[in-house]
Amino acid sequence: MPATPVDETPVDTVTEVPVAVVGAGPAGLMLAHLLGRAGVPSVAVDLRTRREIETTHRAGILEADVARDLVETGVGDRILREGHEHTGTELRVAGRPHRIDFRELAGASVWLYPQTEVFKDLADARERDGGTVHFGVRDTEVLDVGTTAPRVRFTAADGTRHELRARCVVGADGSRSTCRDLVPERHRTRHGAEYPFAWFGVMAQAPSSAAELVYAHSAHGFALISQRTEAVQRMYFQCAPDERVEDWPDARIWATLQARVAGEDGFRLTEGPILERTVLRFRSFVQEPMRWGSLLLAGDAAHTVPPTGARGLNLALHDVKVLAGVLVRALGPEGEPALDDYQPAALRRVWRAQHFSTWMTRLLHTPPGATPFELRRQLGELDCVVGTRAGRAYLAEQYTGWPSADR
Ligand code: PHB
Repeated sequence: MPATPVDETPVDTVTEVPVAVVGAGPAGLMLAHLLGRAGVPSVAVDLRTRREIETTHRAGILEADVARDLVETGVGDRILREGHEHTGTELRVAGRPHRIDFRELAGASVWLYPQTEVFKDLADARERDGGTVHFGVRDTEVLDVGTTAPRVRFTAADGTRHELRARCVVGADGSRSTCRDLVPERHRTRHGAEYPFAWFGVMAQAPSSAAELVYAHSAHGFALISQRTEAVQRMYFQCAPDERVEDWPDARIWATLQARVAGEDGFRLTEGPILERTVLRFRSFVQEPMRWGSLLLAGDAAHTVPPTGARGLNLALHDVKVLAGVLVRALGPEGEPALDDYQPAALRRVWRAQHFSTWMTRLLHTPPGATPFELRRQLGELDCVVGTRAGRAYLAEQYTGWPSADR
C-alpha cells in the first residue's frame, strides 16, 4: 500500500518526458534550456504566471562565468548590449570610500544585469526553441520520486488536468519549495540561520550616483547602492524585519540613505521619486541531500543565502549547469549511478557561498543591541578587509565567483 493516498482521478493528457521540472524561474528554465541543447526534452511547470515572475525584483549581479554561459548557449546577447561590466566595487566604511578592484585583485569582473531580465531571456529562448513551459498551474503533485518512474500531476492555467511521466523530477521551486519536503524527514538534514534585520529595498527614478555598486557600513547601519538603468536605481538599507513600508515616505527614505553613505568626500545620492518599496526578509538555508531517488533539488529549493554579495542566482545557475551534465549522462548509457555525482559537485560551492554570504552580511550590518566591543571589533575586521591587500583580494575572489580550475 502506498504511504500516502494518491489522487488517481483521470487527467486530460499524459505525457512521457525524460525530465519534469517543477519551477520555471531562472534555475528551472536554464536547466530546461541546457537539456534542450543536449537533445533531452523536458517540461517545466510553475505556480506563478510569467508576469508574476517578471515583476518580482531580485538581485542584479552575474558572475562573469555565468554571464559567459548565458551568452555562449544563446540566451545572453542582451547582456552584452544592455548589461554593464563592473570591474570593481566600493566599500564605504565610516564615510570613507575603498575601491575593491576585482580585475587587479582577482583577474575577474561581474556583470550588472537584473535577474528579471535573465528570466525574460530564458523564457523567450524556451519559446523560440519550442520548449514546453506551463506557467500559472495549480494543484501540482509530485509522485513516486522514490521509484524510477516519478510523475507530476497538475492543473494548467486553462483548467485542464495533466500528468507528466518522467525519469527524473527536478525541484527548482524556489525558497518556499514543496519538492524538498518529499525527501523523507528521517533522511534529510536542514541547516539554517536567521538574521535580526532585513533589507528595505527601493526602486528610485533617478540617474546613478556612482559608476559601480557601493556597499556602505555606517554607524546608522548598512546601505547598498545598486543600479538598474540609466534612469532607475536600485537601493537597499538595513531595517527591522517587521518594518512597514507605509511608514516610509520618500523623504524619510532619502534621509536614511543619505545618512548611511555620507562621508568626508561629500558623496551624495542623486534623488528622485521612489517607484517601489519592499521589505526583504532573508535567511541562510541548506537541505541535504540534494538528491532523493529520482528527485533532484536545484537553486533556492535546496539552499538560500542572504542577498549581500548577490550569490543566490549565480549559485542556482551553477547547480543547473552541473545537473544538466549529470542528467544527460544518467539518461544515456551510464544510467542512474551518474545521478550520484550531482551533490558532491554542487555542494562544495553551495557551502562556499553560504559562508561568503553570511560573512559579508555580518561584516556590513549593525546587529541591533550589539555591544560597544562588538561594534569596535567589526570596525577592526572591516579594516583588515579594506586595509590589507589580502583582505581586498579575499573579498574580490569570493564576490566574483571562484575560478573554474578551483571548482
Ligand atoms: C541588486 O542590484 O539588486 C543587488 C546587487 C548586489 C547585491 C545585492 C543586490 O549584493
